[in-house]
Amino acid sequence: MKDSVILSDITVEKGVFSDNHHILEANCSCALSPDIGLERPMSDKRKFSTNAVHAGTKHIEGAVNTPIFQSSTYQLTDERYAGWAAGAQHTLLYARLSSVNSAAVVEKICALEGAEDGELFASGMAAISTTLMGLLSQGDHIVSSSDVYGGTYGLMTEELPRFGISTSMADMQDPASYEAAIQENTKMLYIETITNPVIKICDIEAMAKIAKKHDLLLVIDNTFASPWGCQPIAMGADLVIHSTTKYLGGHSDIVGGAVVGRADLIAEMFIKKVHFGGSPDPHNCYLLERGIRTLAARMPIHCSNAAEMAKRLEAHDLVELVHHPSLESHRDYELAKRIVPKGTGMIAFTVKGGDAAALKFMRGLEVIFEATSLGGVESLIECPFNSSHMFIPEDVRIAAGLGPGFVRISVGIEDIEDLWSDISNALASI
Ligand SMILES: Cc1ncc(COP(=O)(O)O)c(C=O)c1O
Repeated sequence: MKDSVILSDITVEKGVFSDNHHILEANCSCALSPDIGLERPMSDKRKFSTNAVHAGTKHIEGAVNTPIFQSSTYQLTDERYAGWAAGAQHTLLYARLSSVNSAAVVEKICALEGAEDGELFASGMAAISTTLMGLLSQGDHIVSSSDVYGGTYGLMTEELPRFGISTSMADMQDPASYEAAIQENTKMLYIETITNPVIKICDIEAMAKIAKKHDLLLVIDNTFASPWGCQPIAMGADLVIHSTTKYLGGHSDIVGGAVVGRADLIAEMFIKKVHFGGSPDPHNCYLLERGIRTLAARMPIHCSNAAEMAKRLEAHDLVELVHHPSLESHRDYELAKRIVPKGTGMIAFTVKGGDAAALKFMRGLEVIFEATSLGGVESLIECPFNSSHMFIPEDVRIAAGLGPGFVRISVGIEDIEDLWSDISNALASI
């Protein structure tokens, strides 16, 4: 059966996807007065931070930023009917499909990740569930790992089996274990650049070789690294997922998701997004674009603060097992130089004295905020056992390295001396 897109009361057959961005530009130009310069010319040679600021931004009416187009639907013109008939991706018709603000962000993330195309979602989990349920069918099999984000783990173990999609859990740090878990019906290898919350680094290049050898899709959640820290497509990934709630948004004020990568897969994903409905609204996209514009300025501070904090934590009497790839003691110290050479803003460690001591430590903090999530300008701390990983069985949690006293910090961009005096005072209060 052919895919179709259902909008309001009209059904349109999915057509050929050609140069999507040109469809968008044609439509934007005809929807607005023709003398408006929507985009300034982009060059492939521009560097990351220039793209973070400028790529994709729509200078409508000469605006420096893409204005918020808070409209659910758009006037139907001949060009838009034509875009609809051609498959509708990136055609301004209805905001569940695309909006001026989502188009700007997609182009920006694609420029940063080196991707052909992308789609935005209402949350990271909407991006992940649409990818897995959209690209896989009954009888298909995934190789993944119990180290993946808790929501992803739940989706793979509790929801997908109801639709006949099975998952084998292998070790993300051991590409050979992924290869050994491949079955005849395997369609996808699913990994994370940096695992949450144990901060393990995955050898994306080795995984890409395995995926290629067995003709499988390689899907990577790059949330913890951000495109500033790692660009998995250049290492062989087919699709890259982000919870844009985190570093891309960067200010803990939105929930969102993105999938970027091969244009043919994204064209399929577009139809699934339309059917499943997990699209972001224009205001969300506007805030996301604003966040991404400062990504290259924020990330070096997150990473240098985290590296300094890791060094000091490792030397502290009340702390053991600090997980940060800048430390020579980290098991992925060498691998990190290849996969995430600029580091990460995420740290995990164990407070001596178990969960009770860890909770007391967290309650003693005054600058670092006790909350789940990560990637915002402010430092956040959580114990995975009673928050992000609460619903993961205890034995699975402990096997994944989340023993008693385990805490995770998303290191913000505050002054490192303020962060450190906060931590040392709170540790002293245990
Ligand atoms: C690595 C990772 N992927 C995906 C998600 C899900 O993202 P969201 O909360 O935006 O749905 C999270 C959330 O914490 C995450 O940490």
